[in-house]
Amino acid sequence: MKQIHNLRGTTIATESSPDATIDQTGHVQLSKLEDLNARRKSAHLGGGDKRVEAQHKRGKLTARERLISFFDTGSFTEFDSFVTHRSTDLGLDKQRFEGDAVVTGYGTVDGRQVFAYAQDFTVLGGSLSLVAAQKISKVMDHAMRVGAPIIGINDSGGARIQEGIDSLAGYGEIFKRNTLASGVIPQITIIAGPAAGGAVYSPALTDFIYMVEGIGQMYITGPDVVKAVTGEEVSHEDLGGAATHASLSGVAHFTPESEEACFTQVRALLSYLPSNNAESAPSVEATDVANSADTTLRDVVPDAANQPYDVMDVITKIVDNGEFLPVHHNFAPNIVVGFARLDGRSIGVVANQANQMAGMLDIDASDKAARFVRFCDAFNIPLVTLVDVPGFMPGTQQEYGGLIRHGAKLLYAYVEATVPKITVILRKAYGGAYIVMGSKEMRTDVNLAWPGAEIAVMGPEGAINVIGRREIAEASNADTKRAEMVADYRNQFANPYVAANRGYLDDVIDPAQTRPELIKALRMLESKVDSIPPKKHGNIPL
Ligand code: HXC
Repeated sequence: MKQIHNLRGTTIATESSPDATIDQTGHVQLSKLEDLNARRKSAHLGGGDKRVEAQHKRGKLTARERLISFFDTGSFTEFDSFVTHRSTDLGLDKQRFEGDAVVTGYGTVDGRQVFAYAQDFTVLGGSLSLVAAQKISKVMDHAMRVGAPIIGINDSGGARIQEGIDSLAGYGEIFKRNTLASGVIPQITIIAGPAAGGAVYSPALTDFIYMVEGIGQMYITGPDVVKAVTGEEVSHEDLGGAATHASLSGVAHFTPESEEACFTQVRALLSYLPSNNAESAPSVEATDVANSADTTLRDVVPDAANQPYDVMDVITKIVDNGEFLPVHHNFAPNIVVGFARLDGRSIGVVANQANQMAGMLDIDASDKAARFVRFCDAFNIPLVTLVDVPGFMPGTQQEYGGLIRHGAKLLYAYVEATVPKITVILRKAYGGAYIVMGSKEMRTDVNLAWPGAEIAVMGPEGAINVIGRREIAEASNADTKRAEMVADYRNQFANPYVAANRGYLDDVIDPAQTRPELIKALRMLESKVDSIPPKKHGNIPL
């Protein structure tokens, strides 16, 4: 029986197939259209049925299944499905697959243009060949020219070992594009399989990383190398699983429990983002009342400065429909960052979390908030900062870790940001942490405080320990003297009116009016134009 084979050696037509004819040389020929359809079908098989089955057994969707599921129904259009590698080394000439180890293309998400690629683990473990890198580079270039987000779904054994330096150069091309695209178009990574070695640096250069629980793993060197070099024994999951990166390293921003949940979450995130840095933050039709007072806000924050509460309760009472999308939720929980809407318009929220380490700023919180502030600024998303901060975290661990350097990042990010910025002080705002958290001097446009706010160099007890030491020591009753001095200090300084008297605050407001006040200020700031001095780029303390 005469046959036509695909690159894998699988029969795609025989002389008895409909539309098949035998040409003068005795070869089977299909009509041009049948030929195209047969080739397309073959290309869509990826690494073949057995490997697709193995992929499903690992609890993973295939690359095409992922893209079809992610995009609006029927909107995914594929590029380069007939591209093959041209390498012949180490037996690669016998392992050629149409499309190679990545599926690329474009589609829509809620009707908006988005580009994407998904590494195909069924083809040589999703390893990066030169042509796979060229395919990825092509969609990244399209995304940059069109001004649309790019989503990368990673599931790969890393550099294609047989292609050596060509593969490494391919990574270099992708890293270069990630860097140049940073701050121009949103870049989002989904880790839905292994990402090992230098391959992790493309995800690391993007704005947000989603690691799917159970299947996503990232590390520079795997457990075997770790054991050989350091003697340490650690599992793949403990070393580089979703939980590790979401809570300990801060590499991952989100850890959806399944791929389907992940696609839903990425689509939700995109709804808050503009397609590129030349567009304004998206505005949807406002579905919540703009000028409604919420008197329950008066009771959320306890009067006593050291009593905890959940700042999420404040955020959700202020934003549209109580909808808040926290980013980096499990990392540095002493600060909360995330997206919401006010009057239909996207905003970024930064808030000290009083029920975690009393909302103190430490290294991780500074990094987390600085990166978020810079993302919002790059993509024209106004910032709302809610302050209740006792200061920076004391201790050798923090000082040796470079708290000075890391805290400076947050300061830098706030000053540099030219988007509309509004700060509300809910309770404590002490010392350097007060300045950092969107104070007036950080070029914040509107600074408000609740009546219970305490704005000072430090809290009353700490202040009296320093300035009252001699007087207390000399007093006949030290405890009474200390209590008197603390009470005096509290009356004089632990309120918002010293700052308001001097114009460092624009107003002190009834907590119930926070939402209408924020919406008014945002409307006023809608046409804000601000800039930073011309420069090649600044030198943020990294
Ligand atoms: C070529 C690869 C490959 C690679 C996997 N495969 N990784 N082929 N280059 N890097 C092939 C396997 O040979 C196998 O082919 C198929 O993909 C599936 O792999 P398995 O090992 O069977 O799958 P699994 O057991 O699930 O293990 C997945 C894995 C493992 C953990 C990713 O394959 C692995 O450790 N691969 C090597 C990872 C690595 O060290 N990569 C280099 C990292 S350094 P067959 O035909 O047998 O099915 C790097 C540098 C980047 O990437 C630098 C950038 C600057």
